[in-house]
Amino acid sequence: MKIGIPKEIKTREYRVAATPAGVRAMTSHGHRVFIQQSAGSGSGISDAEYEKAGAVILSKAEDVWSEADIIFKVKEPVDPEFERMKQGQIIFTYLHLAADEKLTRKLLDRKVIGIAFETVQLADGSLPLLAPMSEVAGRLSIQMGCSCLEMKNDGKGILLSGVPGVAPANVVILGGGISGLNAAHLAVGMGARVTIIDISLNRLRYLEDLFHSRVTTLASNSSNIEESVSLADLVIGSVLIPGARTPKLITRDILSRMKPGSAFVDIAIDQGGCAETSRPTTHDNPIFMESGIVHYCVANMPGAVPRTSTMALSNVTLPYMMTLADKGWKQALDDDRALAKGLNVCKGALTCGRVAEAFNMDCVDYSSL
Ligand SMILES: NC(=O)c1ccc[n+]([C@@H]2O[C@H](COP(=O)([O-])OP(=O)(O)OC[C@H]3O[C@@H](n4cnc5c(N)ncnc54)[C@H](O)[C@@H]3O)[C@@H](O)[C@H]2O)c1
Repeated sequence: MKIGIPKEIKTREYRVAATPAGVRAMTSHGHRVFIQQSAGSGSGISDAEYEKAGAVILSKAEDVWSEADIIFKVKEPVDPEFERMKQGQIIFTYLHLAADEKLTRKLLDRKVIGIAFETVQLADGSLPLLAPMSEVAGRLSIQMGCSCLEMKNDGKGILLSGVPGVAPANVVILGGGISGLNAAHLAVGMGARVTIIDISLNRLRYLEDLFHSRVTTLASNSSNIEESVSLADLVIGSVLIPGARTPKLITRDILSRMKPGSAFVDIAIDQGGCAETSRPTTHDNPIFMESGIVHYCVANMPGAVPRTSTMALSNVTLPYMMTLADKGWKQALDDDRALAKGLNVCKGALTCGRVAEAFNMDCVDYSSL
């Protein structure tokens, strides 16, 4: 197979889909790997390292897209990538389609085979290709939240940890999954008072066991959300219903009860965000004020720390990429139920139920195609 790795073009996105070790693995299986010039520079990887691992470096993005049977990326395609997609081409990347009808329609029009990292799902419900980036985003969310609380960003001017004689901040984490857990690790480590709200009691039991009395756990319902969020200095949004648009659990009314200058970091913005006031921002302009609250809603947070993120992501995506390249998409999906759940669009048909629900579109089972 011919595998194409373009340079990411989303604002300040410096991750790259494969490391030189990944390229070596692919070429040793007889595949040809085409990488766009300087695709790895933001992650500290030179063209020479890729070449040594057997890749062919191409200077233009158009050439990478036109050569490849499979495009291996990090973020969803954006303009001008739409026109580069070829009918029948496999696109293996994050897609987050439930939050983006335009992209969904583009992928359907171009009749590509779109396999989304974030909906590859194991039998136990876990999301192996989302997990490492959620770990990064969860940890970053506290760093970013601390910065939002600073006066220079119109925050209320408090230190998350407090100091001897001054109380620490209240942090409320909405969604105690992978990113929520990682946010909690940092916030607890800094000495904040942490509350985690989740809809799954089993998950809350696990978190309670893990953190003992260092966090408060609460079942997710509108009263608990309203009460805790209105008392919070920093709220982290980390809810997910796999494949679906994020439920708007924080209404404008709840948000307006928070003290002015409090902060809200919406990690779940890539799936639409968990507050009525959320809207996607970029690393260039990450923060905005709404109802007196400092919002941070960057949809590609791990792009801020590309070296860590590229390594963490490629550790988990490479085995799936190898399977797709070795077997072809149909056999690979037939043999692996987890990978089959990643298929969102296929040759003009929508194959992910949750995306179909979001846009009131028809969904087909891929086996019928
Ligand atoms: N912004 C970024 O750069 C970035 C990076 C990585 C992940 N993400 C996103 O972060 C979000 C969370 O990802 P994750 O891997 O932590 O997901 P996860 O599946 O591990 O955790 C989600 C948690 O939300 C809980 N939940 C579901 N409905 C709920 C409700 N009504 N109330 C409270 N809790 C509820 C689930 O029980 C689960 O524990 C996703 O949207 C993911 O795409 C964003």
